[in-house]
Amino acid sequence: MLFQQALTYKTIILPEIDSTNNEAKRLIMNGIDGDVLIIAKKQTAGKGRLGRSFYSPENTGLYMSYVFCVDNKLSENAVVTCVAAVATAKAIADLTNLEPKIKWVNDLFLNGKKVSGILCESVTDKLGKTYVIVGIGVNISTNDFPEDLQQTAASLNKKTEAKALANRIVYYLKSFLELENRARVMNEYRRLSFVLNKKVAYVKNSVMHQGIAKNIDDDGRLTVVDDDGNEDIIFYGEISLKLDKECQ
Ligand code: BTN
Repeated sequence: MLFQQALTYKTIILPEIDSTNNEAKRLIMNGIDGDVLIIAKKQTAGKGRLGRSFYSPENTGLYMSYVFCVDNKLSENAVVTCVAAVATAKAIADLTNLEPKIKWVNDLFLNGKKVSGILCESVTDKLGKTYVIVGIGVNISTNDFPEDLQQTAASLNKKTEAKALANRIVYYLKSFLELENRARVMNEYRRLSFVLNKKVAYVKNSVMHQGIAKNIDDDGRLTVVDDDGNEDIIFYGEISLKLDKECQ
């Protein structure tokens, strides 16, 4: 698949929005010309994968969507999600010296807690053009998490400007989306993964499965091997992965 790379992109900064991904869809439907980066200081209905929400209080996080046109329809967002995870991890490392790890497929963790999530979506406009929306949330200094997130979410807790972080992420994203860089990026994804060789659990067709995460291939698929040696290949999609003690 070839990505239409734009050298520049338009940046839109909003004081408040329901979700930057929703705003991206509205913009696409009204017609956009070139890549667009949308940043909100606050989201009132930030979305995550699998219908979850993303807590997005004012001025303490980065809530961004980067929108670009692709020249054919994406069947899966898995690779873009993996690329975005590496881009986000590297941008955070550049600006903070922290090294977040990736939990397949779309979450970044620091010290066992989630600091960032990625939600990629694709949309086709009235003219039949397909756009990818890469939605990224990073908890920069959020500390007042609601009770249900207190055990699992954390922040970078660094003085980092959201816009600078967003620009750095886009810089890596555009470079990593180039086809010739793809294999190298997936090697980096595997290096940053903290799921590989760990015990994981997931529900597939309403059945709970457990096994050891053995590999993530260049298309972002996860191979899990159960106690009997059976291999299962998990696709990006409707699966939520649990690790270690969560497996019980
Ligand atoms: C997840 O945790 O499953 C993914 C979270 C993605 C959150 C970001 S914040 C910016 C963009 N807008 C949204 O509504 N979601 C993404």
